[in-house]
Amino acid sequence: MTRAIVLAAGKGTRMKSVRSKVLHEICGRPMLWYVLRALRRAGISEILVVVNEELQAEIVRFDVESVLQSEQLGTGHAVRVALERLEPRAGGRVVVACGDMPLVTEEIFRGIVGSLDARDGDEAIMSLVTVKMPLPSYFGRIVRRGATVERIVEVSDATPAQLEIDEMNAGIYAFDEAALRDAVTRLRNENAQSEYYLTDTVAYFVDAGKRVRPVLAGDHLHVLGINDRVELARARKEMNARLCAQHMRDGVTIVDPDTTYLEPELEIGTDTVVYPNTTIARLSKVGTACVIGPNSRLSLAVLGDRVAVRESVVINSTIGSDVNVGPFAHLRDETHVSDRAHIGNFVEIKKSKLARRVKVSHLSYVGDATIGEGTNVGAGTITCNFDGVKKNQTIVGRDVSIGSNTSLVAPVEIGDGALTGAGSVVTKDVPPGERVAGNPARPLPKK
Ligand code: UD1
Ligand code: MG
Repeated sequence: MTRAIVLAAGKGTRMKSVRSKVLHEICGRPMLWYVLRALRRAGISEILVVVNEELQAEIVRFDVESVLQSEQLGTGHAVRVALERLEPRAGGRVVVACGDMPLVTEEIFRGIVGSLDARDGDEAIMSLVTVKMPLPSYFGRIVRRGATVERIVEVSDATPAQLEIDEMNAGIYAFDEAALRDAVTRLRNENAQSEYYLTDTVAYFVDAGKRVRPVLAGDHLHVLGINDRVELARARKEMNARLCAQHMRDGVTIVDPDTTYLEPELEIGTDTVVYPNTTIARLSKVGTACVIGPNSRLSLAVLGDRVAVRESVVINSTIGSDVNVGPFAHLRDETHVSDRAHIGNFVEIKKSKLARRVKVSHLSYVGDATIGEGTNVGAGTITCNFDGVKKNQTIVGRDVSIGSNTSLVAPVEIGDGALTGAGSVVTKDVPPGERVAGNPARPLPKK
């Protein structure tokens, strides 16, 4: 079984942040989350993350083992700290990766592990991912002699001639465990950064007559190590493009992937169309044949089929099927809207349950309310749910007609089939079938 060490204790100084570098997010997930996912998908489940103190406080979010490197003395030192934690295993293999390369793919990890396998007696004890990259670059340079890799030279130690090399060290390696344990004890920190470089293991093995196998990665973006916020933005763009491409291949129309902001772990049904300037976040689920956007945001939203959300925001709420929302509506805080309801312009709905065919078409605030099937909430209706101390409930029955500009002063209950006249201020419960109007609202004569 292959184990993995993920290096994530670096200071990340170039981010200029109080937060640990690998916790910075792209597309709604910390960089480290993507690296761990790719490793697990490649079948590597035993993972040890090398953390600094800030990261140690947050690593529990990731459900992974960790070890503290209290002083950041370099990547070689970090691996040594990790190996001291891992029980030695005869014939074991160790993959080393960095926590700051969120675009890495499971294929890269599969490839690097596979490449250690002996081919015709041509056994390597280390393999490393290399990549061609446009210059200038801060990546370590791969120095070859003929077809074989001889050493890795860090930028700060490189000669001008070495800086011209365009083959880089991606920072992803697989090692024979015993060989790695030996090599990390031999590292010296006599270099420009006074650090113990993991990359010096290459020269150590090669000088000992051992074989180090390079595996050339196709696209340098896949191994982009994020060091500052410019690279963070570039990585986000690439990850977002991948997420959009995946949903488009699965049958979703995304009109403009450049202005559609997705996250991993979303479900979007076939024939749904996403219009520009739209964000779909945090485990949202969208059914089939929906229209989302333009200019909309869904977060923790669950939508049925044939739902339209235009120029609107839906947060932590569920919507049934055949519902229209917007333009310019805001649904939030565990709102549940049932099938065939209609939420129109400039409507805010908070922590409320709307039954089937309810209409709230214009300029309303509905908070802490339950509204029965078929009820029409007239333009400008407001639930006065807050008495200055606590939030109070409004309960409206089925087939009720709430007149325009009604104020429903909670707690209040309106019975089935009741009616409130335009401008009513309803301070007392209205029995089923009754018609009220005025301020305060009083019963109207029976028709
Ligand atoms: C490193 C490689 C370089 C490679 C590049 C790819 C070394 C010496 N250099 O350079 O050849 O091209 O990655 O991105 O390895 N870390 C620790 N503890 C430490 C130091 C670093 O955990 O004491 C972690 C960092 O958090 C980071 C990773 O190791 O995740 C790489 O460190 P970083 O400082 O970014 O190295 P680079 O200069 O990018
Ligand atoms: Mg780096």
